[in-house]
Amino acid sequence: MYFISVVDSIGDSHILNFRRSEYPSLLELLVNELFDDIGDCKGKGLCGTCHIRIKSSMNSVQFSNELEQKILKDQLEYYPDNRLACQIPLDKYIHKIQIEIIGRD
Ligand code: FES
Repeated sequence: MYFISVVDSIGDSHILNFRRSEYPSLLELLVNELFDDIGDCKGKGLCGTCHIRIKSSMNSVQFSNELEQKILKDQLEYYPDNRLACQIPLDKYIHKIQIEIIGRD
């Protein structure tokens, strides 16, 4: 069992447990566990509502594809530690990361 720390879109903190590949991506974990109102495009990488900031990570969470980089750079406030939750698989490399949901800012 792995876990992540999350500050949701209203500023509340949570610890979420997950199993590897329990959901297709981090987006589904956040939506199913926090009922947060994100994921308008259902994980297609187009809406930016699943925009997150990685506050702390023991591992490098790399960009997964060109589409995500393009959305972040062209449409959102870009910082190197920002990602789209829908593009992050649930895997051991995100164990213990601390994130903040900023998609509805
Ligand atoms: S759910 Fe739309 S960009 Fe991630």
